[in-house]
Amino acid sequence: MAPRHLVSLFDLTTQEIEQIFAIARDLKAKLSNGIREPLLPGRVLAMLFEKPSLRTRASFEAGIVHLGGSSMFLGADAGWGQRESTADFGRVLSEFADAIVCRAKEHRKVEELVEHCSCSVINGLTDWCHPCQALADLLTLEERHGTLQGLKFTYVGDANNVARSLAIACGKLGVDFHIACPAAYQFDEPFLERMRQELPDATLTVCEDPVPAVTDAHAVYTDVWASMGQEAEEQERAAAFADYQVNGQLMEHAPDAVFLHCLPARRGMEVTDEVMDGPQSAVVQQAGNRMHAQKGVLAFLLGAAGSQSSA
Ligand code: CP
Ligand code: NVA
Repeated sequence: MAPRHLVSLFDLTTQEIEQIFAIARDLKAKLSNGIREPLLPGRVLAMLFEKPSLRTRASFEAGIVHLGGSSMFLGADAGWGQRESTADFGRVLSEFADAIVCRAKEHRKVEELVEHCSCSVINGLTDWCHPCQALADLLTLEERHGTLQGLKFTYVGDANNVARSLAIACGKLGVDFHIACPAAYQFDEPFLERMRQELPDATLTVCEDPVPAVTDAHAVYTDVWASMGQEAEEQERAAAFADYQVNGQLMEHAPDAVFLHCLPARRGMEVTDEVMDGPQSAVVQQAGNRMHAQKGVLAFLLGAAGSQSSA
């Protein structure tokens, strides 16, 4: 059977995301009672990273150990696409690994890897999207509000990789997604068109003013204004996003919202200490949920979830 991949959340149906969440909730509850259920004994997770990481790397490495498997980290010296072609690299790595978590500078490079791998490929962040992040975020929102259906989720800031995955996740899970962002940094038309095609019932509201966007929201989310790889644009972006800081004043419009940030945060830029460390903040729970959600992804993709065959 062909392996399943997670390149973007368009790869999963609503029902499959709910299945992943159910596994994640079950494994998280068991872990809180000291039980590490070995659903994937002996499985090997390759960790292929072209960019730095704390959460993605540490959460996948810890998660696969809990599941009874192990991981191997492959940094720049592995030479993906440099020492040898992506085709040779993917075919050979598939001989050793059951799944590859891959953080790449260019989304297309992950899509190309998928074409040559006989094991599962999981996107651990590209310039285009960050699906594992959005799964953990929506799991956190559900924990905080008890449900997802009909909630208002507002993202304030750059329409970047994280925002794209959140828009898809919200669209698949019945959450109304709002984004407040300067016009020059909004979602590109091909993405909006794909959302309309694949998720015609999704609510995706684009605006420039953060105040109406966050008013009565159930979640207020932000991310850095300049992502990894955009360091040269930092000053220009800091000026463009100056009115988009999530601070105490903005959060007054969303008293029932949970505050979320994928991290790492640039405190004093897109978010203040007051909000990051305030009573509405769930950023540590959210980061912890990276591991729980990804254990659900691994069990689902590698066939330990009941409905999939073994990889
Ligand atoms: N949120 C996130 O992906 O963090 P890292 O870049 O540290 O993995
Ligand atoms: N948008 C950020 C997310 C980091 C987890 C980046 O790509 O750098």
